[in-house]
Amino acid sequence: MSASGQTRTAIVTGASSGIGQTLAGHLLDRGFRVAGFARWRNVPPPARSGFEPVTVDLSDPGAIEPALQTVLAGFDQQLDLLVNAAGFGRFPPHRHLDPVVLASMVSVNLTAPMVLCGLCLPALEARQGRMVNIASVTARHLGKRGAAYAATKAGLLHFSRNLFEEVRKSGVSVSTLIPDLTATPFYDNLDFAPAPDPEASVDLQAMRQALDAILDAPRGTVIEEITLRPSRLLIEKRPASPKR
Ligand SMILES: NC(=O)c1ccc[n+]([C@@H]2O[C@H](COP(=O)([O-])OP(=O)(O)OC[C@H]3O[C@@H](n4cnc5c(N)ncnc54)[C@H](OP(=O)(O)O)[C@@H]3O)[C@@H](O)[C@H]2O)c1
Repeated sequence: MSASGQTRTAIVTGASSGIGQTLAGHLLDRGFRVAGFARWRNVPPPARSGFEPVTVDLSDPGAIEPALQTVLAGFDQQLDLLVNAAGFGRFPPHRHLDPVVLASMVSVNLTAPMVLCGLCLPALEARQGRMVNIASVTARHLGKRGAAYAATKAGLLHFSRNLFEEVRKSGVSVSTLIPDLTATPFYDNLDFAPAPDPEASVDLQAMRQALDAILDAPRGTVIEEITLRPSRLLIEKRPASPKR
């Protein structure tokens, strides 16, 4: 509930898996109504009270607005929170990155969050709401693989910082979660993953706590960025498969 006694509303992209699924579930636990954007290809949406699955392919920027308008109409054009968690990464040598896959990665990881932030602003302003974008430590650290993925995440972090400067006068906040290796299905089609050691992966409970810190910050204070890193760097190489 908000201070005014209204049920709080959230949109979470990437709600079908991993970090987005974790944060959507946590928001339901906190009493939010949640609209979960994803293609919902691999798992059925959870049948939880207050949860509304929205099937949308975020690689198609033109598909976003119609899906969003239906949700906002159901929320009476008022929104407390937008979490942009949908994303994927491909990490071959850059010369081998399929241009179609590259364009899709830019669309899902960068274009879709920017489109959603813009379209949601009026509804967020109505409730002095918050945006939370999920970037990555690759936005800051240089690596020998994944230059294009890192560019999408650096773009999202820079966008978030700039957008906050633009919208802060309206009472809307923009925060970025910056995770390092986190054991999720993100790695299902990759030839590496965090080693199966609890210290090699960010705990999803820490992700919930980071969201709580952003949401529960005293009014007037914005937690702009939270970086979450595993205590140890342990990466497991896997044999390449045709899907990877
Ligand atoms: N895991 C990590 O180590 C790590 C580290 C740093 C940052 N991140 C970032 O954290 C975010 C969440 O990743 P995750 O680890 O939770 O990965 P994940 O488990 O693979 O989840 C990715 C989510 O994105 C959605 N998605 C992907 N392509 C989509 C599309 N075209 N249209 C709509 N939804 C799409 C997926 O839903 P559907 O497949 O159902 O569409 C899924 O819900 C991503 O932005 C990722 O870049 C992850």
